[in-house]
Amino acid sequence: MKEKLLQIKEEALKEFSSCDDLKSLNDLRVKYFGKQGALTVVLKGMRDLTPQERPIIGALVNDVRQNIESSFAKKEEEIATKELAKKLESEKIDITEPSKDCEKGSFHPITRVIDRLSDICVEMGFEVVQGPEIESDYYNFEALNIPQNHPARDMQDSFYITEKFLMRTQTSAVQVREMEKRKPPFKIVSPGRTYRNDSDSTHSPMFHQFEGLVIDENVSMADLKIMLNTMLTKLFGKGTKTRFRPSFFPFTEPSVEVDVTCPNCGGEGCRLCKGTGWLEMLGAGVVNPKVLEMSGIDSKKYKGFAFGPGVDRLAMIENGVTDLKLMFKNDIRFLNQMK
Ligand code: DAH
Repeated sequence: MKEKLLQIKEEALKEFSSCDDLKSLNDLRVKYFGKQGALTVVLKGMRDLTPQERPIIGALVNDVRQNIESSFAKKEEEIATKELAKKLESEKIDITEPSKDCEKGSFHPITRVIDRLSDICVEMGFEVVQGPEIESDYYNFEALNIPQNHPARDMQDSFYITEKFLMRTQTSAVQVREMEKRKPPFKIVSPGRTYRNDSDSTHSPMFHQFEGLVIDENVSMADLKIMLNTMLTKLFGKGTKTRFRPSFFPFTEPSVEVDVTCPNCGGEGCRLCKGTGWLEMLGAGVVNPKVLEMSGIDSKKYKGFAFGPGVDRLAMIENGVTDLKLMFKNDIRFLNQMK
């Protein structure tokens, strides 16, 4: 039996050492350790040994088994490493291979203006909010102190959907929604699409506005002026001058229109500013106390100011575009030039 064991050991080690793939290694495992395996058979024969022989052979069996097992494990690891190396070699990726050319997109010029205005205002502590494009007559007009049959409604040629609902003509409607929702003090801006029945080279039935509203104790026209000067200087660069002209909006009192020195000619006078050196930028004003009260804000305690630049005009100036419709046609040749 001893000889038999030593013979098995020698044979097994020899076979393991010449084996070089996982499948034949597995066959060898079955051959030695399987149910009918050589070692298993020998172990079964231990029953017939005398009590004196049993511990001696037992120790030998253990030694042989450990020997074979460890050489099996070593071989298994060796083969796995080799096969992995082979696999890695065959699946090698050439990272120096040039990639396919892919065309780069860019943000739309109008999105870029909205993002810049938002960034400037967020830096000054404003929160950016959204309102619906289909708006009720109440939010778009009534609550902004433009009652039914008020002549101010003629300032804006509206698209009505039903008697009560229309495509919002101004983002100012968002002012009302926020005043109803919030507790002062707060500062919000709201960019978005607006709609009016108006169409020529500088007007499109769908256009964009950027509304701003500040409600706090003791805010005044002076705060509005400082805030707008800061915003417009950040937008157009140092040396930009502003001009505040008296105007009228039903929801602000007093109301102003704000011009900036033409960014194209620096105020010298050019085609863009029609020789005046100034460009009209936005409407603004101190919120009419009547408007505050209608939305549930105590006008004795709180004041507010609001502003609303048109976005499209800014994008046109920035990109030297003279026909606003080009912005909305999605002609890829045009958009490629706007990158
Ligand atoms: N909503 C006005 C318009 O469409 C612009 C405007 C004027 C907005 C004065 C304001 C404001 O917030 O205070 O012509």
